[in-house]
Amino acid sequence: MATQNAAKVKRLGVIGAGQMGLGIALVAALKAGVPVTLVDNSQASLNKGLAFAAKDISKKRITPDQADDARLKLTGTTSIGELAGVDFVIEAVPEIPQLKFDIFAKLAEVCPRHAILATNTSSIPITRIAAATTKDPKDTSSSSRVVSTHFMNPVPVQKGVEIISGLQTSAETLDTAITFCRAMGKIPSVSADSPGFLANRILMPYINEAVICLETGVGDRDSIDSIMTNGTNVPMGPLQLADFIGLDTCLAIMRVLHLETGDSKYRPSVLLAKMVDAGWLGKKSGKGFYDY
Ligand SMILES: *[C@@H]1O[C@H](CO)[C@@H](O)[C@H](O)[C@H]1NC(C)=O
Ligand SMILES: *[C@@H]1O[C@H](CO)[C@@H](O)[C@H](O)[C@H]1NC(C)=O
Repeated sequence: MATQNAAKVKRLGVIGAGQMGLGIALVAALKAGVPVTLVDNSQASLNKGLAFAAKDISKKRITPDQADDARLKLTGTTSIGELAGVDFVIEAVPEIPQLKFDIFAKLAEVCPRHAILATNTSSIPITRIAAATTKDPKDTSSSSRVVSTHFMNPVPVQKGVEIISGLQTSAETLDTAITFCRAMGKIPSVSADSPGFLANRILMPYINEAVICLETGVGDRDSIDSIMTNGTNVPMGPLQLADFIGLDTCLAIMRVLHLETGDSKYRPSVLLAKMVDAGWLGKKSGKGFYDY
């Protein structure tokens, strides 16, 4: 059953030629060996992305023939209508709810009736995205094919991927998503459609608690990061990790957890919010809990 499903994916569509979309397209071409149609509404982004991917392929430890083959597997288009021949689509555009809803409504129209429609959302409920594929909630012919494949950044490096079913997602859709992610060389974890899913639900309150410890004087920066790295064997302390992820990203995810659950245990740290107000976003802005 599972292998049958994997074999069903003969062509992949990826929406969004940003870092995430490109990473997904690259890994799909190289590992799963499927041709990929990359869609972006900007031709300039497509050209830049495909050029970047071509260069990246040259750096891989593969034969020149394999590299040529991978390059030929990647094509770009600005027209979402060109996804009429794909068996699986992964959407990786910015986290703007209406943008994702519009894309999924369109995908339900243009993709074949068997195609799996996957999103890389980190904060929007899958159930809500699936609902956008139909005007008649009783008709689940499209919404049952919506699922989330939440890849971790950077895609070529991180092996883990979260697979999330919405209320409408069919068992077959989930199974195909798991099998295809495995074909991409990834290690899937299944999560329910709940705010933050698994990774952020666990990671962000941990980081937030570290900031609250700093804010309330339980420990200073170096004590906090040192006890976690030297005491629990994680590669990076929580404050340094927050700097790498981006403090704005951490705050946004805490806000989603807090808002969607109404549970005060997810209250974002005041210090975290103030640092974002100051523009101290971590590594990308040169200043966060550390200076860069
Ligand atoms: C996809 O998910 C990853 C992990 O949460 C996130 O870092 C990234 O911004 C998302 N990207 C897009 C374009 O959806
Ligand atoms: C872990 O301990 C070493 C040795 O004392 C120290 O140099 C290092 O900074 C500590 N790690 C962190 C992240 O503070």
